Amino acid sequence: MKKEMKAALYDQFDGPSKVKSGTIELPELKEGEVLIKIKAAGVNPVDTVITKGYYKNMMPHSFPIIPGWDMAGVIEARGHAARRFEVGDEVYAYARRPEVKWGTFAEYIIIPDSYLSKRPKNVSMEEAAGIPLAGLTAYQSLFKAGKLAKGQKLLILGASGGVGSFAIQLAKTKGAEVIGVASSKNHDYMRSLGADHTIDYKGQDIGEAVKQIFPEGVDLIFDCTSGESLQQSLKCLKADGKLVSILNQGDDLDPKIDHEFVFVEPNALQLDHLSELVDQGKVKVNVGQTFSLDETAKALEQIETLHTTGKIVIVP
Ligand SMILES: NC(=O)c1ccc[n+]([C@@H]2O[C@H](COP(=O)([O-])OP(=O)(O)OC[C@H]3O[C@@H](n4cnc5c(N)ncnc54)[C@H](OP(=O)(O)O)[C@@H]3O)[C@@H](O)[C@H]2O)c1
Repeated sequence: MKKEMKAALYDQFDGPSKVKSGTIELPELKEGEVLIKIKAAGVNPVDTVITKGYYKNMMPHSFPIIPGWDMAGVIEARGHAARRFEVGDEVYAYARRPEVKWGTFAEYIIIPDSYLSKRPKNVSMEEAAGIPLAGLTAYQSLFKAGKLAKGQKLLILGASGGVGSFAIQLAKTKGAEVIGVASSKNHDYMRSLGADHTIDYKGQDIGEAVKQIFPEGVDLIFDCTSGESLQQSLKCLKADGKLVSILNQGDDLDPKIDHEFVFVEPNALQLDHLSELVDQGKVKVNVGQTFSLDETAKALEQIETLHTTGKIVIVP
């Protein structure tokens, strides 16, 4: 039976202001896929970037596009062989598909069940929806690319944002010593997440400020921000240290620096691990603001500022 749903939609690359709510018919449920009633959808800076067409040469796009890659919801129906979960299970996912088309700022999504994990039980749907993309980015950057180990010294640039907030907490689960960089209004917040030291990126050189704290430098820099912060920080990276960036692909960096660019991948096993850490109370999610589907453009404009604290979530 055909099913229509309400969704945020756009049909040209014209930025967030052209994203409007409307109705669209869902595709058929196919082999390996499930139908999910979306309860909440996390908003990330990339959602705004995509509305401007910046990814159009990297991934196929098909208009009209529903934005959004993060969601938490309830399974309503299962296709052939989609048996990892039961109808009624509460799940969450980083739902980046190979084609940009069916996003999460909608009432429903149809997606292969390989993307899904059971959502953490001890948080709300809104909090769960704020985890996948940012949580997996921090996880893959620190644990896979950065191979962060107990006792290492870590500098996080942009540590009060969506990704940085998870990075502080995940680093503390490994026993690392963390310096968080953000504006001073967010220093108490970063400390509440576990940061051992905080630095303001305004009015001082970050590399010099780090050397005041760790004269021998840091083992790992996790770069979640643009601007001059990264260049200033490189002077405090130990000679055998590593830089992991989610923004800088290395073109303007000294080739002697051990550098890795991370582009976050969907990974349900890692999401299972994040659920455990959240349920054990080791990782918390701070939802700063919620918006309705009709307010999607406003949510995208807010995330575009790159000065959001915690996560923004859309509740359809
Ligand atoms: N490659 C990937 O897979 C991937 C994945 C996720 C995100 N990203 C990208 O990574 C960036 C961060 O994402 P997010 O979701 O964490 O963004 P966000 O929630 O907007 O957070 C941005 C953070 O950067 C801080 N900041 C702003 N200007 C700064 C500066 N000059 N120096 C140091 N910190 C600064 C902000 O602190 P204040 O508010 O205190 O200024 C805030 O803590 C975005 O550009 C996003 O597109 C890439």
